[in-house]
Amino acid sequence: MPRADLVIYNIGQLVTFREGPVPARLLKDPGAAGIMENAGIAVRGERIIEVGSSTEILSKYEAKERINAGGRLVTPGLVDSHTHLLFAGSREDEFELKLQGYSYQEILARGGGIYRTVKATRSASVEELRRLALERLLLMARHGTTVVEVKTGYGLLPEYEVKMLEALRGLDSPGLPRIIPTLLAHVIPEEYMERRGDYIELFIKEIIPRSLKASVKPRYIDVFCDKGAFTPEETRRIIEAGIRAGLRARLHAEELAYIGCSDLVRDLDIDSLDHLEHLPPGNIPPMVEKRTVANLLPTSMLSVFSEKKPPVRELREKGAIIAVSTDYNPNSMNPILQSTMDISTYLLGLAPLEALAAATVNASWSLRLDDCHGRIAEGACADIVVWEHPSYKWIGYEWGHDKTLTVIARGVIVKDELGGIS
Ligand code: NIG
Ligand code: FE
Repeated sequence: MPRADLVIYNIGQLVTFREGPVPARLLKDPGAAGIMENAGIAVRGERIIEVGSSTEILSKYEAKERINAGGRLVTPGLVDSHTHLLFAGSREDEFELKLQGYSYQEILARGGGIYRTVKATRSASVEELRRLALERLLLMARHGTTVVEVKTGYGLLPEYEVKMLEALRGLDSPGLPRIIPTLLAHVIPEEYMERRGDYIELFIKEIIPRSLKASVKPRYIDVFCDKGAFTPEETRRIIEAGIRAGLRARLHAEELAYIGCSDLVRDLDIDSLDHLEHLPPGNIPPMVEKRTVANLLPTSMLSVFSEKKPPVRELREKGAIIAVSTDYNPNSMNPILQSTMDISTYLLGLAPLEALAAATVNASWSLRLDDCHGRIAEGACADIVVWEHPSYKWIGYEWGHDKTLTVIARGVIVKDELGGIS
């Protein structure tokens, strides 16, 4: 009898997304999601070794551990493809200012917002930052998140940006989500306010090369391209330098205003354009052609009290690949992708299955990790969530509490509340 470390059986509905990233419009046909009924999964080490019918898997494998899913929904682990979870301090008083009518940009222009978090993050020790990140990662994992993209960007100067990367050391370990580090050009630091050009030079000539020598190296380069942050031309220079240095590219684009950031998709290889509240529909066809993901951040829209929404209908109709992510940061304090996924149905009009694809396989594609994460298939990483409901139709429909019962990250059981109730 072949051996497995873990078998999950009696799965009522298994959403595999085995074919990889799916444009939202294809999900009108649930067949595109690779859904199976009465299914089972066998896991050995970090990997899924077989997916089949529940009885087949149960009779074929001798398993150290068996989990009875009790006829419930099982999906890939959630992939949070845009976070700023590595920060010190908090900004709860700015929340009150926003409620009084001050905008995100006004607060930033007065030296609050990102600048305030930069001060707190620069003065925190590496150990303190690592401890904060660890707490946050554990919380995310317990709610079903098995991959987390983490950006720098609260250091701004070379030594502090490197410190942020060093703080991630040791955190990508069993039982925690996989971490994908991103080097972020966030804003012009106060020290360089009158010398923008010099800062772009510093970023290209010092910050990028030094980041590649840190013990945790970035996989991505990202720029906050927006009104009050970097211009499209500055962004282009930084992205091109990052790509030359071997990094992949993703971008904050068109969140607060349209200033031409998404135009860069036409001639640069950008895996993901994020936010997109002000995306001009004319930039959707090149995104579709290059399979650049439209990464939408609904809980972050709430946090900036955005009156604009991304053009979801056009994105769907034209065949774009849509992801959703939390944007977890001190301005938008939601670490739980499960909540973002639920809220995306109300705020963006995503159908439950679109929302699930957006938080799993499509998010994984936005990080170009879909050979391993965001899918349930033979050979993929064993990132698996058992939910309390019987089908994906409950996504969005019931929300406001944790609906995950069991979470497995790269083969490690992070939480299992099924024991007593299956
Ligand atoms: O994605 N927009 C830029 N960066 C973050 C916010 C970071 C912050 O305010 O600290 C975002 O929304
Ligand atoms: Fe962000």
